[in-house]
Amino acid sequence: MNYIWSKHSLLKFIHASIEQVVGADRFLVSDLCAGTGAVARMYKELGHPTMTNDLQYYSYVLLQHYLANSEVLMFSGLESLLDWLAERVPEDRAEMVCLYLDQLSGMQWFVYQHYCMGGTQWGEFHRQYFSDTNGARCDAIRMQIQERYNEKMITDGEYFFLLASLIESIDKVANTASVYGAYLKQLKKSAQKDMVLTPALLSLSRQPHQVYQQDINELIQHTSHEVVYLDPPYNHRQYSGNYHVLETIARYDDPVLRGKTGMRDCSDQKSKYCSRVHVLEEFHNLMQNIDAQYVFLSYNDEGLMSLDDIRDIMSMRGEYGVFEQSYQRYKADKTENRNHKKDRTVEYLHRVKVEDRS
Ligand SMILES: C[S@@+](CC[C@H](N)C(=O)[O-])C[C@H]1O[C@@H](n2cnc3c(N)ncnc32)[C@H](O)[C@@H]1O
Repeated sequence: MNYIWSKHSLLKFIHASIEQVVGADRFLVSDLCAGTGAVARMYKELGHPTMTNDLQYYSYVLLQHYLANSEVLMFSGLESLLDWLAERVPEDRAEMVCLYLDQLSGMQWFVYQHYCMGGTQWGEFHRQYFSDTNGARCDAIRMQIQERYNEKMITDGEYFFLLASLIESIDKVANTASVYGAYLKQLKKSAQKDMVLTPALLSLSRQPHQVYQQDINELIQHTSHEVVYLDPPYNHRQYSGNYHVLETIARYDDPVLRGKTGMRDCSDQKSKYCSRVHVLEEFHNLMQNIDAQYVFLSYNDEGLMSLDDIRDIMSMRGEYGVFEQSYQRYKADKTENRNHKKDRTVEYLHRVKVEDRS
């Protein structure tokens, strides 16, 4: 997924820097503002156990699949419905279930009614986050996944795999410039294409992978860690607002939507890391209370916290250092790019080796 400040293109830098400090042993990696889980996924592939966390439910869904799903998904419970499934080898089954869902006829439910032109054209706000066809197909697939799950025909792992596949696939045909803070007036080319329900990649692993959906400052009160990787938001832009449509598709909880953008109420998912007033206190509390051997923090040179603030706070806990790398600004983010003359930023990876482990 094209996620704001995803670390996908910085993985080499992050891995090499962490290895320089921690070494190459197998350690538990805690990616605690994990978003799409790019960093934890890299470590899962390398054979590490992981712990991931994020405030957002769509992120929790992605993490439940990409991290916690570690064995081939059999979909045995669907054999009574899809009799041809029993003849398929295990490795093909997930893809076959996606193909089946992809062929369902569209249904005009929540996504169609609230995020598509066909469903909103007679109302006060004419929204067009998706084409009518893709909105209705998303509804049909989302309903079917939920019904099969409620009937216990699919396991938790299969449920999260299907939801992750749907979130990734519908995002590819979204009619937005980048995020869901606004939609485009005309359907752009990629949004005119039919969504293809593409199976989300599965990474096999024998290590444990725990996933949480909590505020990080609360999570660290009851968890302990080895190597912590932190990647909080850098600026005032809340992820809950930027990805509200994916949150609703993931939850499918029939929320009340407001205004032109059709935002759901996200007041319980506002991050203090996006607030100039609260961010320093929040980060200070986090660093003071975290139980870990090493903490790494990704932050860029335009964030709400200054380099000096970060150094002062992190060095409370032990020996501090920082790595840096010049980085291509997040390209799809046109609104933000307009306000910046530079097309590159400096990405820092701050680190501390904790000396006074609580
Ligand atoms: C910069 S993004 C992380 C990107 C991620 N490293 C990736 O590569 O996909 C920041 C993430 O922090 C999450 N977040 C913000 N405040 C949080 C909080 N207080 N606790 C947990 N997660 C939070 C956001 O929902 C968002 O997914």
